[in-house]
Amino acid sequence: MTRSRHILLVLALVFAQSATALRPFLVKESLPAIPRGWTARDRPPADHVLQLQLGLRQADPNLLYDILANVSDPRHAQYGQHLQKAEVDDLVRPHRRTAEAAAAWLVHHGIPQTAIRPNSAGDWISIEVPVRVAESMLDTEYRVYDHEDGSALVRCMSWSLPADLHEHVEFIQPTTIFGRPKPHRSFVNSVISRGIVLSNPTNCSENVTPDCLRELYGIGSYRPNPSSANRLGISGYLGSYANINDTKFFYQQFVPRAYEANFSFAVELVNDGLNGQSEASASLEGNLDVQYGGAMSFPIANTYYSTGGSPPFDPSAGTPQNTNEPYGDFLSFILNKTNDELPTVLSTSYGDEEQTVPFSYAERICNLFAQLGARGVSVVFSSGDGGVGDGQGPGQKSTSCISNDGNATPMFLPFFPATCPFVTAVGSTAGVPEVAAGFSGGGFSNYFTRPYWQEGAVSAYAPHIPSSYATWYNSSGRAYPDVSVQGNNFIIQQSGSLTTGYGTSCSAPTFSGIVALLNDFLIARGKAPLGFLNPWLYIVGTVGFNDITTGSNPGCGTNGFSAIDGWDPITGVGTPNFTKLMSLLSLSL
Ligand SMILES: *[C@@H]1O[C@H](CO)[C@@H](O)[C@H](O)[C@H]1NC(C)=O
Ligand SMILES: *[C@@H]1O[C@H](CO)[C@@H](O)[C@H](O)[C@H]1NC(C)=O
Ligand SMILES: *[C@@H]1O[C@H](CO)[C@@H](O)[C@H](O)[C@H]1NC(C)=O
Ligand SMILES: *[C@@H]1O[C@H](CO)[C@@H](O)[C@H](O)[C@H]1NC(C)=O
Ligand SMILES: *[C@@H]1O[C@H](CO)[C@@H](O)[C@H](O)[C@H]1NC(C)=O
Ligand SMILES: *[C@@H]1O[C@H](CO)[C@@H](O)[C@H](O)[C@H]1NC(C)=O
Ligand SMILES: *[C@@H]1O[C@H](CO)[C@@H](O)[C@H](O)[C@H]1NC(C)=O
Repeated sequence: MTRSRHILLVLALVFAQSATALRPFLVKESLPAIPRGWTARDRPPADHVLQLQLGLRQADPNLLYDILANVSDPRHAQYGQHLQKAEVDDLVRPHRRTAEAAAAWLVHHGIPQTAIRPNSAGDWISIEVPVRVAESMLDTEYRVYDHEDGSALVRCMSWSLPADLHEHVEFIQPTTIFGRPKPHRSFVNSVISRGIVLSNPTNCSENVTPDCLRELYGIGSYRPNPSSANRLGISGYLGSYANINDTKFFYQQFVPRAYEANFSFAVELVNDGLNGQSEASASLEGNLDVQYGGAMSFPIANTYYSTGGSPPFDPSAGTPQNTNEPYGDFLSFILNKTNDELPTVLSTSYGDEEQTVPFSYAERICNLFAQLGARGVSVVFSSGDGGVGDGQGPGQKSTSCISNDGNATPMFLPFFPATCPFVTAVGSTAGVPEVAAGFSGGGFSNYFTRPYWQEGAVSAYAPHIPSSYATWYNSSGRAYPDVSVQGNNFIIQQSGSLTTGYGTSCSAPTFSGIVALLNDFLIARGKAPLGFLNPWLYIVGTVGFNDITTGSNPGCGTNGFSAIDGWDPITGVGTPNFTKLMSLLSLSL
């Protein structure tokens, strides 16, 4: 039994009696309207089981952010002094009275001890309860909601808590969360039915392969000296599988050294995730992630984390379903590892409209990325594939770029988790010489304020934003992406044949592979890995990137933003020059 669980249960018994007094409910969170794309159906069976996730307020959330800034800012004496798991747990642990209040409330509702599973810090609790119990705990009514795409969820439009619990419980899900992370789709350009002959295999101007990326970004003949302390992690959700056979054939054609070494990826299954290896079950997303992440960083080990969730839901069957938003499950799993078991870089190519993720939940997920950063992991996300929103340029029909607060205000659509300041968001370029890719997602968060480390870069860009956009974005928000790399015409081995694909999904694993190489360079010299990248990137690293100065990212019926000299919300600070980045890192050795 973990310490936090022990405390929770003992206190629960002590405080249970005092909790039974009559306590008025107050609404904690509510939605103004059913989110776009969904319709309400009937109520789920009363014994339908929900896996509720409770986020308890951390005693002092700023403590984590202060230490993260110290260990990630290259000017600080504590730079690179990453924390261990127990140290981070202590930073985020709730106050004793918060744990007491939550425990008493659960006991009051008769939740059996075996159904209560806190994480080791005690700030995140999972419980399994039937809908009827959840409804009385939250003074709400759950319904089945159907999406246009045929999927269904059990959710509610509003939920309440006894007034005295409001300050202790920050979120409970699944309640109002309708967003579901979707792969930043790697779109297929074409399927190549015959073998491919590249006229100039080291030039990315027509098709992108690992060789041309190494050439373009100055990696040349750098050969890592793999250390067990270095590992690239790739997260896959919702039944996206990476195929070992496809990857082997990809390496045979494009990375012969890796093929000869029988190089492959490890798989870890999270929350009943699967590892489908049939040719038909291979996903373009999973394949591309391991093929490019692995190719760029070979022979550094890489792991594909396959997280379950969202099986088809049959409300009449009354069977338990898991339609949690899966970042929480995956992050609980990975944060439970010791530092030796953690990857040094974690690449993810998923996201959803920021406004579909309730703020309280987005804030906590972002806090979990900060915890990974404090422990020395560089968390990398692709920036999205719809430019400033839905990819619809001027004169094109755009109906999706509106707020979902009931007012339908026209707005650009920032994507979460790219908008979380503690991840490094990667946009796309195309062609040689490189220009911004039109689909490259970018813009400004409506949830997270602009961090100090990008203030200079973003205020230099501000005068270049058309004044007609003033009401379409939040000028004080965290701006993204942070960097970019190629994202078009990637050659991918998929279900037994070669295809080409595009999307920021191609860019995130490629950039992550390069970060793994930089970590190799540092670890070989006895230094800590880069960890949370952004402060270093904006304060020191910018000069190690090729500035991308042309192109724009249309969307929402507008031209979107334009690339200019310096940082911009399409390509960030630009694309990496590995040689220059290594020299920058050498300066601090
Ligand atoms: C972070 O750095 C600041 C300034 O150097 C220092 O005052 C503060 O104590 C540090 N925070 C922690 C938690 O070490
Ligand atoms: C790559 O090909 C493009 C288009 O043909 C050309 O403009 C560019 O100079 C080439 N780059 C190199 C480094 O050869
Ligand atoms: C990287 O930067 C160095 C130093 O400025 C330059 O000589 C080199 O050509 C650049 N490499 C690439 C691939 O752009
Ligand atoms: C090559 O790798 C595969 C999968 O990782 C493994 O099953 C196989 O035994 C390896 N073969 C050799 C010759 O090492
Ligand atoms: C965390 O790890 C411990 C011991 O390694 C294990 O007992 C526990 O179930 C894990 N918790 C989660 C949430 O994975
Ligand atoms: C703009 O963003 C800030 C946080 O960066 C937030 O406090 C504010 O509510 C946002 N405004 C709108 C109109 O979304
Ligand atoms: C492995 O991939 C190769 C090349 O795509 C294909 O010919 C072969 O049938 C695949 N084998 C299996 C077991 O899927």
